[in-house]
Amino acid sequence: MKKLKVRLDTNGYEIHIGSDGLRYTGHQLKEKDFAGKVIILTNPIVKKLYGNTLKQGLTRDGFEVIFLEVPDGEEQKSLETAGRLYHELSSHYAERTTPILALGGGVIGDLAGFVAATYLRGVPLVQIPTTLLAQVDSSIGGKVAVNHGQLKNNIGAFYQPRLVITDIDTLKTLPAKELANGLTEVIKSAVIRDKGFFAYLERNLDRVKSLEAKVLEEIVFQSARIKAEVVEKDEKELGLRSILNYGHTIGHAIESASDFKIEHGEAVAIGMLAAGRISSQMGIFDQKELARLKCVIEKAGLPTEMPSLKPKRLTQTMEHDKKVLGGKIRFVLPKSIGTVFITDEVSPTLIEQTLAG
Ligand SMILES: NC(=O)c1ccc[n+]([C@@H]2O[C@H](COP(=O)([O-])OP(=O)(O)OC[C@H]3O[C@@H](n4cnc5c(N)ncnc54)[C@H](O)[C@@H]3O)[C@@H](O)[C@H]2O)c1
Ligand SMILES: [Zn+2]
Repeated sequence: MKKLKVRLDTNGYEIHIGSDGLRYTGHQLKEKDFAGKVIILTNPIVKKLYGNTLKQGLTRDGFEVIFLEVPDGEEQKSLETAGRLYHELSSHYAERTTPILALGGGVIGDLAGFVAATYLRGVPLVQIPTTLLAQVDSSIGGKVAVNHGQLKNNIGAFYQPRLVITDIDTLKTLPAKELANGLTEVIKSAVIRDKGFFAYLERNLDRVKSLEAKVLEEIVFQSARIKAEVVEKDEKELGLRSILNYGHTIGHAIESASDFKIEHGEAVAIGMLAAGRISSQMGIFDQKELARLKCVIEKAGLPTEMPSLKPKRLTQTMEHDKKVLGGKIRFVLPKSIGTVFITDEVSPTLIEQTLAG
């Protein structure tokens, strides 16, 4: 088991990464002085695969386990579902000290986090991420949220977990599409902060796809380390943390213009490459590095070409962001592999050209 620390002014926490994490969660909770009741929030797919293993370990360590279930799917990240969960927590006499364990992907993590942040003004949260995306991204950093109206993640809080237990064995059952989705964020971490890790990905992506435990552990560890470092420096996203949005400006526009038929990971992969092309056109990002980036994205099984979407729909989302940011679109662009810069000086013509593919 590898350990990482997220050092924050208050409420720092550890991330444990390795095999067999589910079975060892009870022991870890005891070490952190938890006792009595624990709530596991999950969905039927993940419960069927991993609910029992987690429960057995917790029971062995003396905990009373209560499962709360929500159906699978992004639409569960809602105030309605949160409301139902508050009722259930209170009917199970959950107290201020009762931890909520989020067992699942980013949807469960964000929802459980939101409920934990608000129920009784905050109960302890433990993240047990089971998708690659959740292991390298959403379980770290304390952003918790539900969706409201047409907007995603617009009702939420910064609420750090007490502990993150990442059991990489859970990735074995992950559908290939979800693995690719998570790989986008893995590639993103390498491009924004670590050229050595990028080179590791170039050499080892085949082994990732065949789910070799050692390689999975390494990519989860390195990506989690990078996210933790960025969050430590800028917990509330006042500056540096926005580099995590690399690929996401154009990515979000693609997702929304396709009415979410193109998935987040795919859209951001296209967005990362588009940001690379913009930077190359500006004479900053080397063409050879751009080619390496394209190659890694392709090898991960992700798309690289701009889909044919109506340009108007694409710019709509960006126009919205622009209004929010006071008139200018902000891009995170690669300078070289391993370093990015933030700019709002990209010419509208260059943006249009890039979006046109
Ligand atoms: N809080 C943050 O900082 C942050 C960052 C990025 C994304 N997010 C959020 O994360 C969400 C997306 O998360 P996601 O990609 O994990 O999607 P998800 O939670 O919907 O999981 C994807 C699918 O995989 C299934 N699943 C989960 N673990 C499995 C396993 N081990 N084996 C087989 N199937 C499994 C789920 O039931 C689901 O059907 C979005 O709501 C997004 O807004 C949050
Ligand atoms: Zn993302």
